Amino acid sequence: MAQLDTLDIVVLVALLLASVAYFTKGTYWAVRKDPYASSYANGSASKAGKSRDILETMDKSGKNCVVFYGSQTGTAEDYASRLAKEGSSRFGLKTMVADLEEYDYDNLDKFPDDKVAMFVLATYGEGEPTDNAVDFYEFITGQDVSFSEGGGAEEKPLSTFKYVAFGLGNNTYEHYNSMVRNVNKALEKLGGSRIGAAGEGDDGAGTMEEDFLSWKEPMWSALTQSMELEEREAVYEPAFEVTEKPDMDAEDDMVYLGEPNKNHLEGASRGPYNAHNPYIAPIVESSEIFKVENRNCLHMEIDIGGSNLTYTTGDHVAVWPTNAGKEVDRFLNVLGLASKRHMVIAVKGLDPTAKVPFPSPTTYDAAVRYHMEICAPVSRQFVSMIAQFAPNESIKAEMTKIGSEKAYFVEKVSSQHLNIAQLLEILGKGEKWTAIPFSLWIEGIHKIQPRYYSISSSSFVQKDRVSVTAIVESVEIPGAPHVVKGVTTNYLLALKQKQHGDPHPDPHGLDYAITGPRNKYDGIHVPVHIRHSNFKLPSDPSTPIIMVGPGTGVAPFRAFVQERAAQAKAGENVGKTMLFFGCRKKMEDFIYENEWEEYKEALGDKFELVVAFSRDGPQKVYVQHKLKEHAEEVNNLLQQKGFFYVCGDAANMAREVNTVLAQIIATQRGIPESKGEEIVKAMRASNQYQEDVWS
Ligand SMILES: Cc1cc2nc3c(=O)[nH]c(=O)nc-3n(C[C@H](O)[C@H](O)[C@H](O)COP(=O)(O)OP(=O)(O)OC[C@H]3O[C@@H](n4cnc5c(N)ncnc54)[C@H](O)[C@@H]3O)c2cc1C
Ligand SMILES: NC(=O)c1ccc[n+]([C@@H]2O[C@H](COP(=O)([O-])OP(=O)(O)OC[C@H]3O[C@@H](n4cnc5c(N)ncnc54)[C@H](OP(=O)(O)O)[C@@H]3O)[C@@H](O)[C@H]2O)c1
Ligand SMILES: Cc1cc2nc3c(=O)[nH]c(=O)nc-3n(C[C@H](O)[C@H](O)[C@H](O)COP(=O)(O)O)c2cc1C
Ligand SMILES: *[C@@H]1O[C@H](CO)[C@@H](O)[C@H](O)[C@H]1NC(C)=O
Ligand SMILES: *[C@@H]1O[C@H](CO)[C@@H](O)[C@H](O)[C@H]1NC(C)=O
Ligand SMILES: *[C@@H]1O[C@H](CO)[C@@H](O)[C@H](O)[C@H]1NC(C)=O
Ligand SMILES: *[C@@H]1O[C@H](CO)[C@@H](O)[C@H](O)[C@H]1NC(C)=O
Repeated sequence: MAQLDTLDIVVLVALLLASVAYFTKGTYWAVRKDPYASSYANGSASKAGKSRDILETMDKSGKNCVVFYGSQTGTAEDYASRLAKEGSSRFGLKTMVADLEEYDYDNLDKFPDDKVAMFVLATYGEGEPTDNAVDFYEFITGQDVSFSEGGGAEEKPLSTFKYVAFGLGNNTYEHYNSMVRNVNKALEKLGGSRIGAAGEGDDGAGTMEEDFLSWKEPMWSALTQSMELEEREAVYEPAFEVTEKPDMDAEDDMVYLGEPNKNHLEGASRGPYNAHNPYIAPIVESSEIFKVENRNCLHMEIDIGGSNLTYTTGDHVAVWPTNAGKEVDRFLNVLGLASKRHMVIAVKGLDPTAKVPFPSPTTYDAAVRYHMEICAPVSRQFVSMIAQFAPNESIKAEMTKIGSEKAYFVEKVSSQHLNIAQLLEILGKGEKWTAIPFSLWIEGIHKIQPRYYSISSSSFVQKDRVSVTAIVESVEIPGAPHVVKGVTTNYLLALKQKQHGDPHPDPHGLDYAITGPRNKYDGIHVPVHIRHSNFKLPSDPSTPIIMVGPGTGVAPFRAFVQERAAQAKAGENVGKTMLFFGCRKKMEDFIYENEWEEYKEALGDKFELVVAFSRDGPQKVYVQHKLKEHAEEVNNLLQQKGFFYVCGDAANMAREVNTVLAQIIATQRGIPESKGEEIVKAMRASNQYQEDVWS
């Protein structure tokens, strides 16, 4: 038998660690987290081989500032890169961004005092760290934290450690910004010196961006003093080198034309399919389920048979969108790139710490169409950043004003719901913005995000097909020059139109490239993956359930009721199944009206549907009003250990339902309202009350 030499063992261990890390991250891992890390770059093996020693990494790459982030859905990661970028362009710092998970912290006691560490930390759960920050958090707040030189907390081991800190949170949570607060406390206790105040951004008040902007200015002045930096006219330093390859043909089979990774480029895509590697799934059926002209709600059946993807009732399906041709054209036009949209470009990080967010070589068209979130709201800081590349001085002055004055930004940009290309089109008055380096677009525009949909079918009934119930987003702002058209839902609408015989579906002139890169999605296919959730039916079908789901919030409840109807048909003892559904008008958006009748036949009086039509009568009637009318029954079912579920709009409906339920419990049981609230809280903690909400 061949002997394994040391190198083989190192490689094997690295591969093993990499695959363990990969599988244990689970599907809840940050959506925004580098979808290409494992599938496109040279793989996890090289990543695992990378040093976990932050001091060594900084020394080797000549950095004096590291920006660590703890992020779940990418906001903190984004802020971290903005800080790094600004530190470098305005103050000449040698910055790098680092995922907290990728380093060890026991040598922070050797962190030299001419360097600085920045922390950008989101809070999750009940005041908990994000997944990627768990190890760091446990280490730094641990009772018996010990460093390389053996110093415990009393010896102030971090006396040379300079840091700055910003937290991301939401004041509607009980443990507001506890991550940054606790980390700051721990670092102070260990002797670290914080530069400037520890900032706190609040999603709840909708002031995250402004909180960040107003925190960082005083922080930068304190840091300039402490590190004797000199501020300079911000010089843009590209993070990526973008090389045009005029001698390469876009049809060359090495060129990515929107394929999400190498696997897809090389032809037959292979599993396992997950958040890094979508399955190109056939849409086997699609239909319009509203009966009204100006609004659309889609029901789609997506076939996952043969993919090895599995789901259980209550899970989510993620749809990987493609930008509308209309917006891709606008974007390329305003940058003056339209004529060379199919030019092959190679993109590489100019620095080992800069990760290219999409596979290369590619083309301008493919990068913009498939990988960049070009339709999203614009950030004020990004406006400031591109001002220097404006086509002329007067446009530059206007751009600078928009970037620096909050109220003016609201007036000109956010209240109009403009995307970046729409803004540049308006300000440029026909001038093209040709001076903006493409690297700045790669850095400043987010990676396009898969959108999640609550699966509206039961895995017990149809294990190989997931149903989606989606309202097509179309938001008209009075006085604004454009209607906001949701990226993904209008793409799905185009797919539905194609399936129904329109050879060139083009809803509202959006013109999606629905056959995908190299026609790989032809025949009505859509890239998807499945995300498992904890939103689940009770394991015992005889347990009563109460579901509250107005609008598209009914999606997972169609799945629940479908499942229980099938169980009843199979002779199982099914418990009371009560659904509160609300919509605008019975004749317009009462979705699945006929199906409920079928389920009723199977379930008999075990099934009770209560409807609230908000716009059919003189007064608004909502699900929570109906809940109150059925207070006694609701309370009885809960006392029989029934489960309570809410799905849909997080901002208002879900909160109001929570409040009403607490009132119902209090009145029915003759206890104070505060006790009712405590009971609801306890129900949440024990999973008797479950939410699947989105905003
Ligand atoms: C767990 C989960 C489950 C979900 N389940 C469902 C479901 O079952 N059914 C369903 O229909 N939806 C569901 N959603 C919502 C869904 O994921 C999408 O958010 C929704 O379909 C809109 O996607 P879109 O790409 O069409 O719109 P996007 O392009 O993402 O736009 C969404 C909204 O953002 C705003 N917006 C976009 N661009 C701008 C701009 N330039 N300026 C200002 N504002 C802007 C607008 O208000 C717009 O309506 C769920 C979400 C989550 C998180
Ligand atoms: N926070 C938000 O602004 C928000 C949240 C979710 C969805 N949406 C958008 O709305 C569109 C459709 O979403 P949808 O599926 O939820 O359908 P929807 O048709 O907007 O809403 C379904 C039903 O819920 C009612 N409703 C409104 N506010 C409520 C509240 N506070 N409590 C209980 N019920 C309430 C609506 O009544 P009325 O409309 O008659 O008041 C309607 O009857 C989508 O485009 C989506 O983006 C907005
Ligand atoms: C499920 C969930 C739980 C959260 N828990 C808290 C919390 O306990 N305290 C808090 O201040 N913010 C909480 N937040 C708000 C997030 O910290 C905030 O939205 C932040 O911007 C997310 O940053 P990220 O995109 O980098 O993950 C929570 C958000 C979600 C979605
Ligand atoms: C992947 O590895 C090969 C061979 O080791 C190398 O030539 C190539 O540049 C690497 N690619 C990336 C994206 O790192
Ligand atoms: C599904 O899994 C089986 C067994 O693990 C494997 O042989 C097969 O290739 C997989 N199929 C796909 C499409 O990934
Ligand atoms: C800049 O371009 C705009 C649009 O063409 C024009 O109206 C404006 O006068 C120009 N300003 C200068 C200083 O050239
Ligand atoms: C903040 O949390 C509340 C309560 O969960 C939620 O309604 C709201 O949408 C959150 N804000 C943001 C911007 O996520």
